[in-house]
Amino acid sequence: MRNPTDASPLALVTTPAVDLEAEADLSRCGALKDYWYVACLSSELTSREPLARTFFGTRVVLFRDERGQPVALLDRCLHRNARLSAGAVFGGRLGCPYHGWVYDGSGAVVEVPSLGPSQCGESLDAQGHARAGLQVRPCDLGRVRRFDTLEQDGLVFVFMGGDSRRARRPAFRVPFWGQPEWNVYFMVTRFPNGVTNLVENFMDVPHTVFVHEGWFRRKARKRVPATVKRSEGSVLVTYKQEQDTVTGLGRLFNPGGLPMVHTDHFFAPNVTRVDYMWGERSGFAINSQITPIGPTDSLVYTAISYRLPYDLPRALVGQALKPLVRWYTTQVIRQDVEVMKVQREGLLNGPGGGVFSGTEADLLHADIEAYRRWLLEGGEGAGPTDEERNIAFWI
Ligand code: FES
Ligand SMILES: [Fe+2]
Repeated sequence: MRNPTDASPLALVTTPAVDLEAEADLSRCGALKDYWYVACLSSELTSREPLARTFFGTRVVLFRDERGQPVALLDRCLHRNARLSAGAVFGGRLGCPYHGWVYDGSGAVVEVPSLGPSQCGESLDAQGHARAGLQVRPCDLGRVRRFDTLEQDGLVFVFMGGDSRRARRPAFRVPFWGQPEWNVYFMVTRFPNGVTNLVENFMDVPHTVFVHEGWFRRKARKRVPATVKRSEGSVLVTYKQEQDTVTGLGRLFNPGGLPMVHTDHFFAPNVTRVDYMWGERSGFAINSQITPIGPTDSLVYTAISYRLPYDLPRALVGQALKPLVRWYTTQVIRQDVEVMKVQREGLLNGPGGGVFSGTEADLLHADIEAYRRWLLEGGEGAGPTDEERNIAFWI
């Protein structure tokens, strides 16, 4: 977003809290690119077809090499720059749709069909090739830009910041993945908004009584005390409200009326984890990993992990309820997609989108913005200081 140059007298604060455009631009996003981002579900990347994705405004093609490992290349053929993701995968290699140049998993050109069986220029001599800026063999053509990938917990990750050994933290682990008492499933949702606004939405309690009224919580004129702890790139909000209840599926998870422990946790720059726990045997965790496509477009990979307190075989109960839990979470996510669209419409009605204001209930959002702004500016030095504060708000 541009800085407003014609600030109205009403706009007291004119510094954007969020620079949506810079945040989603690979050349301007600073240290935001130095993290692993989810590219797709493992199940979405087959060995038969390439997959097109966009990260920080940069188009990438994904496919599986001959060993089944995920590969991510810049989605642009070295020859005449056609989009490689419109091509085909065969034997772990990717063929361009235009003249059929073939790339391997390292991004190297391994075959040029027009060179025939010899795979070597036949008539021009070396000098003739050089004078016209042409190459003799496929291996002289170089490589298309490649991005590091990693696969874990049912997800394929990509690293857009160069050498992934420089990653600022390991790829995020899906909560309770592989634990037999827990059921885990994924939802993939395209959201019409940028990463900062989405993490704020996923960590935000006050909106639930408006956007999800009746589905999730009801307006109760209740005071909610919470502790907001900012440390080491994370913002942890612990709600001190043992009587808090979620409506809807909440009753199913807590037939015994146990106190609920609710925490919301943000991990810079793009991950949230919301946990509702009732005693030792019942819980519901929502983990959202957000991948920036552009300034107001993101892909959100939501892992829903849940465990129910019933004595029947847990896996059985979990499986039987899966359609219901999935239906419920789909409805709630749709409501958030809708309100994120409404926020985007307001943001784009400038000047100076992302000029926010707030009250005590927004402390966690200010902390999230502080971390993301620091990373956007390069993430050098110690970063935002550790702090722990108590707040209260009403829902
Ligand atoms: S543009 Fe890709 S092979 Fe020609
Ligand atoms: Fe919501």
